[in-house]
Amino acid sequence: METPIVDFVEKYAASGTMRLHMPGHKGVTYLGPEKWDLTEVTGADSLYEADGVIAKSEENASKLFGCHTFYSTEGSSHCIRAMLTLAAQYAVRQGKNPVIAAARNAHKTFLCAAAMLDLQVRWLYPQDGESYLSCRLTEEQVDAFLAETGATALYLTSPDYLGNMADVAVLSEVCHKRGCLLLVDNAHGAHLRFLKPSLHPMDLGADLCCDSAHKTLPVLTGGAYLHISSHGPVFFAQQAKNALALHGSTSPSYLILQSLDLANRLLETWNVAEFAEKVSAMRRRLEEKGLIFYGNEPMKLTLDGAAMGCGTDVLCWQLEEKGIEWEFADPDYLVLMLSPAMTDGELARLESVLEQLQTGNEEPARLPAFAPCRQVMSLRQAMLAPAETLPVEQCVGRVLAQPSVGCPPAVPIVICGEMIDAHAVKLLRYYGVETCTVVL
Ligand SMILES: Cc1ncc(COP(=O)(O)O)c(C=O)c1O
Repeated sequence: METPIVDFVEKYAASGTMRLHMPGHKGVTYLGPEKWDLTEVTGADSLYEADGVIAKSEENASKLFGCHTFYSTEGSSHCIRAMLTLAAQYAVRQGKNPVIAAARNAHKTFLCAAAMLDLQVRWLYPQDGESYLSCRLTEEQVDAFLAETGATALYLTSPDYLGNMADVAVLSEVCHKRGCLLLVDNAHGAHLRFLKPSLHPMDLGADLCCDSAHKTLPVLTGGAYLHISSHGPVFFAQQAKNALALHGSTSPSYLILQSLDLANRLLETWNVAEFAEKVSAMRRRLEEKGLIFYGNEPMKLTLDGAAMGCGTDVLCWQLEEKGIEWEFADPDYLVLMLSPAMTDGELARLESVLEQLQTGNEEPARLPAFAPCRQVMSLRQAMLAPAETLPVEQCVGRVLAQPSVGCPPAVPIVICGEMIDAHAVKLLRYYGVETCTVVL
């Protein structure tokens, strides 16, 4: 696979051209990568009006993913805003009000984008009382909900932060039968395309999907893809750049663009499927030794601390002692993210540390059941309202104004516009949230 952006920048950097353009470092090495950090000079193309090296590189990515693929240097957050814009435009073209049915474990970016675009959101709740970070939905539940709400799009987060994957193939059929779009926040799942068979949402029927390439592929932080199905409305691919431009910075990072460009070549030989086999074999061996995992996404090892009879703090402390840093831990789950960038030696070291973990025989922590609060204001009204920040204990009976979430995982426990009740305060405290910003 060619790397047109990388090749252009290499040539420019070697040319000795006097850089009387942005950025202000002029290619001088202060941090390290400055010589490759450009702006839209002649020949460098322009992300939102691409017809040169960036367009060529995006074509390569499109071939790799088997759909229309567009770059962002501002993460899935940016692509989520663009996806919702396209979904809203689609509804308007159909003469309908945009109504988005969304699984409740959506990232806070979804809330902010829905508020900015003034979209109506109808929440789908998990039926099994599990962690609020997961939202497993049944085919029947989704079908009935779409019929009841007349939603113009369904929005899923899959894989979720803990590593659960929705049945995208089944849910896409339900959506399409109802004339509804399927949007997937696949921020954690870019690598799913490279499993055999592919488990990527675009291969399972999604119309629009975003991937944080940086989360699971060899890409610098910020690199992301907006994918558009070739089977969906034609105007999506035509308007994708405009939708991204609407929400994006006018100074996209060329370092990140080069990283996305190079990934097209690296991914031809990055053996995700083989690595996933190794991880699942390791997982099976560890399960035989008593470790309990949660979720079914092959690159995540999510330890279920409560089920193993110990708090995740005890597990984190042991990993830290062995020089291992984790992605995320809440009182119940500890998430480790693996990738083919790891060597066999590192995998073996991880396995050895995990099999020696001291667990315990404590009563499992009592995860307070997730119970939605009552919505009394729209997302947008609440987010724009005058507000004050108070300790959570003083927030009972008050309406949440700003998403009160830790990042990660940035999934709101209470939605802006909902009235905080005593149970929600218990949940917020359980997850370590100390203050909330509430409507005055
Ligand atoms: C499920 C989910 N969606 C979206 C995002 C936002 O992605 P990014 O950080 O690439 O903007 C995150 C970030 O952690 C996430 O976990």
